[in-house]
Amino acid sequence: MLDAYILGIESSCDETAAAVVRSGEQVISNVVASQFATHQPYGGVVPELASREHLRAIVPVVRQALVESNHTYESVDAIAVTQGPGLAGALLVGISYAKALAFALEKPLIAVNHLEGHIHAVLLEERQKGNHELEFPVLALVVSGGHTHLYLATQNQNSWTYENIGHTRDDAAGEAFDKVAKLLGLGYPGGPVIDRLSTHGDAKAVKFPAAQIKHPDRRGRNDGRGVDADDAHPRFDFSYSGIKTAILRYVEAHNMRDAVEARRRALSQIVKPKLEDYLQNCDKRTLDLVTSFQRAIVEDLAGKTLAAARAYDIATLFVTGGVAANQELRQTFEREGAKEGLPVFFPSRPLSTDNAAMIAAAAYPKFLTKDFAPMDFSAEAGMVLR
Ligand code: KG4
Ligand code: ZN
Repeated sequence: MLDAYILGIESSCDETAAAVVRSGEQVISNVVASQFATHQPYGGVVPELASREHLRAIVPVVRQALVESNHTYESVDAIAVTQGPGLAGALLVGISYAKALAFALEKPLIAVNHLEGHIHAVLLEERQKGNHELEFPVLALVVSGGHTHLYLATQNQNSWTYENIGHTRDDAAGEAFDKVAKLLGLGYPGGPVIDRLSTHGDAKAVKFPAAQIKHPDRRGRNDGRGVDADDAHPRFDFSYSGIKTAILRYVEAHNMRDAVEARRRALSQIVKPKLEDYLQNCDKRTLDLVTSFQRAIVEDLAGKTLAAARAYDIATLFVTGGVAANQELRQTFEREGAKEGLPVFFPSRPLSTDNAAMIAAAAYPKFLTKDFAPMDFSAEAGMVLR
């Protein structure tokens, strides 16, 4: 089979990204323009600003991805773009540009689900390492700023299908990292900061009650799960808004508000704070709090995911999405997976967070089956993965 070079474009949230990937197995170029500086003063992604920044960045980012891969607009075989889920206005920038390119160049256009992209980031890098064997059933935990979802992934020749067997009922795990960092005056995004601070505190210092999921899931039917939970199809849902509230209460109970405000002000004066800057502005109580928080989230994610792996007799586990960049999370999954003889695969850190190489990789099976998008397809902010 001839090689196919796919140009991937990703603009679903706060990263404008483009990449060229060969046949779903080799990253030729991978360019990511982060909007970190734009959103940081607001402590989270501002959708209108995200769209504007994507508009600014999309042309130079795609051009750079082509230059770095020694490709031209004409030499790529297809254009792939994220259709959803994500911010509608942000998605539309990538989609409009991808459509314009596909139309002008007379190349096939491929629409990709962002979550499928995160799963294919793992497949892409395993193939890149020469690992083409994959044992099924595969379970994938997609854990990011917008999602904490468990999927059973099935491959039938060149077609992939997914069944959701668990998701968060409220906040995503990455969202919890971001909200906790914000309420402790640590800035945005919270995950990378808490990750680094968590080697400096005591993980046993603060106890959090385990997440309670009592009410039935009202959103489940929209989640592409296909079947109701029963003995043969148990569900493994997550919940992270409780722990955020527990931290808020802890801050109030221990009169930490003034210290949080002082930290917020001090860190906002520094353009790109380093670890020492964070440490200088954090007392022991704050370090213990974030370390205990991270431990609680990681243990909950690993505990539920491994329980799901046992219930579905899983042969291979993928852990992917922005939070999969977390050091303690990787170590915990590796350790706990090894105890059960379950191989666990992660993307490298650059491919854990949002990027376009994963979009180009997920597009490759669709390229082979000629599953092309019509010119009138649009963004789907709440797109479901099936
Ligand atoms: O996959 P991603 O780049 O974008 C979404 O699709 O949401 O994930 C971004 C999320 C943010 O919530 C960020 O705080 C979190 O991933 N994140 C981390 C780490 N790096 C990024 N969370 C924990 N530890 C990290 N090292
Ligand atoms: Zn993502």
